[in-house]
Amino acid sequence: MNWLIHDYREDDLAAVVHLIDSTAELGQESVFSLAECIAALTARQPAVVAVHGGMPVGAALAQVAGERAWVMRIAIHPAWRGRGLASALLRELERRLVEARVRRIAYVLPQEELLGDGLHNAGYVRRPAAAYFEKAEPAAGRTADVLAELGGRLLPGDLWDKVAGMEAEKTLIERRVVLPLAEPERAARHGVRPPRAIALFGPPGTGKTTFARAVASRLGWPFVELLPSRLADEGSLAAGLREAFARIGELERVLVFIDEVEEIAPVRTVASGMHGVTNELLKLIPGFREHDERLLVCATNSVRSLDPAFLRHGRFDYVIPIGTPDEVARKAIWSRFTEQGADEDVDVDVLVAASELFTPADIEHAARTAAQAAFERDLATTHGSDPAPAGAGTADYLTAIEQCRRTVTGAMVEEFTADISSHARV
Ligand SMILES: Nc1ncnc2c1ncn2[C@@H]1O[C@H](COP(=O)(O)OP(=O)(O)O)[C@@H](O)[C@H]1O
Ligand SMILES: [Mg+2]
Repeated sequence: MNWLIHDYREDDLAAVVHLIDSTAELGQESVFSLAECIAALTARQPAVVAVHGGMPVGAALAQVAGERAWVMRIAIHPAWRGRGLASALLRELERRLVEARVRRIAYVLPQEELLGDGLHNAGYVRRPAAAYFEKAEPAAGRTADVLAELGGRLLPGDLWDKVAGMEAEKTLIERRVVLPLAEPERAARHGVRPPRAIALFGPPGTGKTTFARAVASRLGWPFVELLPSRLADEGSLAAGLREAFARIGELERVLVFIDEVEEIAPVRTVASGMHGVTNELLKLIPGFREHDERLLVCATNSVRSLDPAFLRHGRFDYVIPIGTPDEVARKAIWSRFTEQGADEDVDVDVLVAASELFTPADIEHAARTAAQAAFERDLATTHGSDPAPAGAGTADYLTAIEQCRRTVTGAMVEEFTADISSHARV
């Protein structure tokens, strides 16, 4: 897996052309000719290149035509076939296309090809009568305008799989939230009503925002984050909220995310001055709940600062704690962050033991610090001598762990445990 994928650059042209040209006989054909591919590349259409050891080993290119994009070619060096590089390139390419507000991605293969399975797995639907693969992005026309006004967007399709570890939380959210929304008819057969609103609480950096985005990605619904600072631009925050929910009502399907919701719905003391805003949100939730295919996700680091009326049954279906990862989860997260092309095998178990109470964000930070240390050591190596081994080693990670200031303290763990018994509802 030790390739790097970057955006196509002008000086990649020769190598990419060679890849396309030299792989055409290997069943990696396309309905697009080499000349068309070159024209698209020179016109700076979206394209990505995978590099290993400085050599391009794969490329994927597309052409955007209005709301549709055509995947023109995915070319993989023969030595790199069957290792997941094609899917990785396609995911990166899709990312660029979604950012370019493309709503349909089509991929036409000239004949039955192995890649077809990969496309199915990536959410493409095979149209009958031709190997014509198409993925519809579920926002079009008016919907797209409303989404843009709200600052919402479709997220890449792979965010759920990218949540490392956290199996307990993942399973819970998948069963209670994702699957009833994804399979409403099946849920209804058992009298299960899909949730309309959930709250996530827990210390900072444990993955609340990550989970909210992952759920939107998994459902294929647009993600709209309501930012109090932005809502207040239009006058009062209460009016901004009302206006935003009116627009949200025009969307067919959507996941609405409110982070740090305690700022909007704090305990109603006279001093807070947030009465009107809290009341407004309390009034808006029932209307929001009336429609299928929408989900409100609120996140807070401080569930005890929330207005007690806010989390009531009937408003929020589930109030889910997201805590620091346990050993198994830390192992998965460490493995994710240490797998990037190191020469030395990293002793993940040692890192897991040394990073108790670390949040995923802490682990991410420590891993980055270690990688940076390895990079700087490499820079310091004098010319002519043997190059330093690639990537951080166990010792680098341990040093980084020691240097990292843990976000979650013992006192916070106690508070969180108490919050779970007083507030959690799963
Ligand atoms: N399960 C996970 N696997 C890998 N990275 C994660 C995971 N959970 C969180 N992260 C990373 O940690 C950082 C903080 O996560 P975030 O979701 O913003 O936490 P919170 O919203 O709870 O404060 C982000 O950079 C995110 O990518
Ligand atoms: Mg967050």
